[in-house]
Amino acid sequence: MKIQNICCIGAGYVGGPTMSVIAQKCPDIKITVVDVNASRIAAWNSDDLNQLPIYEPGLSEVIREARGRNLFFSTDVDLAIEQADMIFISVNTPTKTYGLGKGMASDLKYIELCARQIARVATTDKIVVEKSTLPVRTATAIKNILDNTGNPVQFQILSNPEFLAEGTAVMDLFNPDRVLIGGEETAKGLEAVQALVDIYSRWVPKEKILTTNVWSSELSKLTANAFLAQRVSSINAISELCEQTGANVTEVAKAIGMDSRIGSEFLKASVGFGGSCFQKDILNLVYIAKTYGLHQVADYWEQVILMNNHQRERFAHRIVKTLYNTVSDKKIAFLGWAFKKDTNDTRESAAIYVADYLLNEQALIQVYDPKVTAQQVYTDLNYLNSRTEVENEVLVKVHTSAYQACEDVHAIAILTEWEEFNTYDWELIYQKMQKPAFVFDGRNVLNKELLEKIGFTYSAIGR
Ligand code: NAD
Ligand code: UGA
Repeated sequence: MKIQNICCIGAGYVGGPTMSVIAQKCPDIKITVVDVNASRIAAWNSDDLNQLPIYEPGLSEVIREARGRNLFFSTDVDLAIEQADMIFISVNTPTKTYGLGKGMASDLKYIELCARQIARVATTDKIVVEKSTLPVRTATAIKNILDNTGNPVQFQILSNPEFLAEGTAVMDLFNPDRVLIGGEETAKGLEAVQALVDIYSRWVPKEKILTTNVWSSELSKLTANAFLAQRVSSINAISELCEQTGANVTEVAKAIGMDSRIGSEFLKASVGFGGSCFQKDILNLVYIAKTYGLHQVADYWEQVILMNNHQRERFAHRIVKTLYNTVSDKKIAFLGWAFKKDTNDTRESAAIYVADYLLNEQALIQVYDPKVTAQQVYTDLNYLNSRTEVENEVLVKVHTSAYQACEDVHAIAILTEWEEFNTYDWELIYQKMQKPAFVFDGRNVLNKELLEKIGFTYSAIGR
């Protein structure tokens, strides 16, 4: 079966880049990315490629080549569904904020809405691909909805979880470690799997395309994120021990990472992992384990989250303790607000939680991030109900220059590992700060020797 027309529902951090790369690699397939969010679609269609709704290195070049040729962004969901022979579902699956499983389970309402819309609109057979990260066995629910439409249209459900990381999305898509495709183990199922294998094999070596049953594929995605997050929490746990003992966490990470069984990647101690997925996916795994009565399994994975909460709080607490146990009315600069470098995404960023803690201690915060807008910073703090104003005094100011953000402050906190921070004139920054001048490096990215030579009191995670 040769796919000629693809529709992707959800034009977010996954749908946008994923479909752009497929479109670039497969110029003969028409791809329409649809979304209910009209302003997001307008931004994807913007002539000015700096106005794309998400920032990813290399993305604008891919969009420039494919958009208008075989890649289209639209709000007409029904039309795109009707015309497609393969439909990717890439909508958000956040943690539930209400009802049963509140705070743990994935909220699948957007997935269900998509399934119902496909069921209502489709007049020809479709392959429906789960691209969103979903709890194991979700495909059963989607299939139930699709198979009970009363019309003779046939659906095949595939699971094709996405493993890209933000900030490196385009490179990850060009050169994935693996592509995972789960399908039903029937003749029709295998045919559908092959149709998707044929698309990826245009640029991904065959040995990197893994096919499994649907449940293995769904569960592998949650498991991969849980294992990755666990590494960060593990090294962060050791970072606290390093601070007490004089060991240096960067040296420990290097020493253990050189053991090929451990590996050197993903061992950077930090103020805590953020992003839209690690916490959500582990909570979901914990919830699934609990629903099967596997309480030890649930507790084991939950500890990864608890450690992460502790790391964020510990960092904020250390700032207060070092600044003579009070930050009330003291100005603190935040360099970085995004959850990692090279993205404008701030979802679950550690910066938000550290800011909230310090605002409760009545600190004044001056934020600078190269890619995050002031409006986004305020939205994030609003969402946590952080106090951003007291008696008309604004407690959080967002600046468009790091030098401005650092002026007159008592301390600087590094929350994101943006490379530009290392290129600053730290001597100049020092001159304009209150003394003694402190730097709290939540990402271990600055040059300790250089800063100490200038006169800063420097402390970093795990050192
Ligand atoms: P996102 O919030 O950036 O994008 C989701 C989009 O879906 C939104 O624009 C929303 O308006 C749209 N949408 C929701 N319901 C819709 C509907 N019924 N019809 C049309 N559009 C609808 O989310 P994201 O970060 O792209 O994540 C999507 C999924 O991919 C999640 O399940 C996530 O866990 C998974 N994932 C994300 C990443 C990542 O790095 N962000 C990586 C791998 C997997
Ligand atoms: C992560 C996974 O890496 C992707 O494979 C997965 O597809 C994605 O989640 C998802 O399902 O959404 P992402 O969250 O975009 O990708 O970014 P990561 O590079 O994994 O970083 C996550 C967080 O961990 C960031 O806050 C980062 O700063 C932090 N981190 C990462 C550390 O603190 N130390 C490290 O060594 C690595």
